[in-house]
Amino acid sequence: MGFGISTRAVHAGEPERQYMDSITTPIVMTSSFTFTNMDEVLDYVSGKVDRFEYGRYGNPTTAVVIKKLRELEGAEDAEVFDSGMTAVSCTLLGLLQDGDHLVLTDDAYKKTLMFCEKVLPRFGIRTTVVKMGDYEEMENVLRRNPAKVVLSESPTNPYLNIADMDILREFKERYGFVLVVDATFATPVNQQPLSQGADVVVHSATKYLGGHNDLLGGAALGRKELIEKIRDYRNTTGGVMDPMTSYLLLRGLKTLALRMERHNTNGFLVAQYLERHPRVRRVYYPGLPSHHDHKRALRYMRGCGGVVTFELNADLERTLKFLSALRLFKIGPSFGGVEALVTHPMTISYYDYPAEERKRLGILDELVRLSVGIEDSQDLIEDLSQALAQI
Ligand SMILES: Cc1ncc(COP(=O)(O)O)c(C=O)c1O
Repeated sequence: MGFGISTRAVHAGEPERQYMDSITTPIVMTSSFTFTNMDEVLDYVSGKVDRFEYGRYGNPTTAVVIKKLRELEGAEDAEVFDSGMTAVSCTLLGLLQDGDHLVLTDDAYKKTLMFCEKVLPRFGIRTTVVKMGDYEEMENVLRRNPAKVVLSESPTNPYLNIADMDILREFKERYGFVLVVDATFATPVNQQPLSQGADVVVHSATKYLGGHNDLLGGAALGRKELIEKIRDYRNTTGGVMDPMTSYLLLRGLKTLALRMERHNTNGFLVAQYLERHPRVRRVYYPGLPSHHDHKRALRYMRGCGGVVTFELNADLERTLKFLSALRLFKIGPSFGGVEALVTHPMTISYYDYPAEERKRLGILDELVRLSVGIEDSQDLIEDLSQALAQI
């Protein structure tokens, strides 16, 4: 209907007339749906009537969140899952089969990499991991070994590399694969990869989509024929988003555009502040002209979100001291919620990796990743300032 993204975030998918004239979508807390007589059963099984039958195949509250996400992302079809990892794994297992080849970029989420390298081979699916941003290497792989699916995240963690959608689209046309983009860091407010050449977009709804650090969820969106394969896989294996989580996600999504505006502004202001600080060696934020993918960010994104990564001018001991000195930024994994969080990738995500491997992955001892929330930017900056003054 041509509404803007903020209006769609509030109203899209919501029925015009709700149960008992409620303004919000009710939580339909049921595992099964009954039929009043066998005529209704026959109408349903013969496809005359579309309705709910069993909770693993659909739920009215979940159906509303799916519709809202579809309209936000501009997708023909969508499905939701009980976590982002279920969205990723069902997407890959729904689209790939024995003998297929997957190409994946090397800075994908740790568990996505693990799934592709350790689990997919058990199903006879081979994965080639290519360096993010090295499109020559990707093309060499595609030329030698045709891929059924190419999966890239954008932006990526922790260096916020941005996928070049024009090159990926060109490769897709030349080599014929399904392009899957994990756009968790972007959200449909900042980027809509389906309009830039992606066939399927996946999200961890745990992050910005939910936005309040109170749910786990995932989504896959794209053309109907692809989402149906992913849905069939999920309907068989489980991994369903429950009605309560669907409601929380619906509620979170209503403020998505508003929250992203603040995350984008806070992210930029914090990144700018850190870049000028003498105790900070380097800042990675695609909204800064100094970021290696700044031009791609300008081309493909409307804002760069709230994740800011930086290297301190400090050793491990002083880095840990800095982290413990923060007050507003709570130490913890994840990102995309209203609360400011800080993570130390070396300890929180890569402690079990050998030092050499961490070095290869660029996980330095002095690397810090912030997820700025929707607090006042001045308060966030003052917190960083007092913690930096202590090292
Ligand atoms: C880019 C990306 N994709 C997928 C996931 C997995 O999502 P979840 O934790 O909801 O399973 C994460 C988690 O951090 C992520 O960062």
